[in-house]
Amino acid sequence: PRSRRCQATTDMKILGIETSCDETAAAVIEDGTVIHSNVIASQVEMHARYGGIVPEIASRQHMTAMIPVVETALSEASINLEDLDGIAVTHGPGLAGSLLVGVNAAKGLAVSHNLPFIGVNHLEGHIYAAWLEDGVDPESDPGFPIMCLITSGGHTDLIVMRGHGDYQLVGRTRDDAAGEAFDKAARVLGLGFPGGPEIQRAAESAIGTEPRLPRPNVKNSLDFSFSGLKTAALRRAEEKGMYPPREDHNIDSQEVSEVAAAFQEAIVDTLVKRTLEAAQRYDVNGILMGGGVAANSQLREWMSDQSSTPVVVPRPGLCTDNAAMIGAAAFLRIKDNPERIWDLDVIPNLRLG
Ligand code: KG4
Ligand code: ZN
Repeated sequence: PRSRRCQATTDMKILGIETSCDETAAAVIEDGTVIHSNVIASQVEMHARYGGIVPEIASRQHMTAMIPVVETALSEASINLEDLDGIAVTHGPGLAGSLLVGVNAAKGLAVSHNLPFIGVNHLEGHIYAAWLEDGVDPESDPGFPIMCLITSGGHTDLIVMRGHGDYQLVGRTRDDAAGEAFDKAARVLGLGFPGGPEIQRAAESAIGTEPRLPRPNVKNSLDFSFSGLKTAALRRAEEKGMYPPREDHNIDSQEVSEVAAAFQEAIVDTLVKRTLEAAQRYDVNGILMGGGVAANSQLREWMSDQSSTPVVVPRPGLCTDNAAMIGAAAFLRIKDNPERIWDLDVIPNLRLG
């Protein structure tokens, strides 16, 4: 996180494709940093009415959106397929049926134009989002080792990154991911899906303060646990007569805002404390955040304020799922070894480190 981006010289353009969850996304990225296009077709409205992601619906939506999204990404970047230097696709972790759509589409495009073709770990994509735009210089040493907090709907991982492609998982959630906890708490408070942005919005209008919710703690470990906090939020909502929702439930009420604020604070406080503890234990030179929850304004603010080492975090729109991060993560790999992995398969439970 020390050095900033300098002029890149290779002009390598990579098409990134991402379909691991509920966003169909394609992007053209130059040298792991410059975004020429970044197209995202969100299915959020389709899933919102069920209060969560329905895998069967997700893969069908990817099927219809995939080709138009790729075409838009290429035309917005003013590039033809044959002028690309490679194609990279998320091959895990994620929903099997969703991943398959992206991997098969990407493979078909790469085979037909004989382009370098690799699979990218979705979590590695969230990490390399920090290299986009005015992020870290992709070719220089950004000051490794870095402590990465990747926190999304499916993961809450602490990963020590010692170099490009060199990861060690040192902490993870034992139950719910932080994003999942946000989504579940939002449902209890009668807020919409996805819950993270809804809780953030409600919390921002809180005037008074709610007694604090417990901070979940896993002893003698860098792991997280958020399911107890989710239950505590449910109990608080029940005590206040907010849950089960009444006829006159008002999501804009101070009651809802104050519980949302207490919940957000408990999650953010836990994420910040654990990450700083891990950073100290592994004696890192900086902290990197990524994944949907890293879009949270309070998390961004508290981490920066409390960390004694530099904190790198992509802008909020690059924290949530996108394909630009996949193109960014692929850059050094394709540059150093433009392989064509034609037998690439999806790995729904793919790990990093
Ligand atoms: O990385 P992401 O887009 O997809 C996964 O890989 O899971 O993360 C989605 C998660 C959701 O749980 C959503 O509620 C959460 O990120 N999220 C947020 C915010 N924006 C998205 N959580 C807290 N605050 C936000 N502003
Ligand atoms: Zn994600």
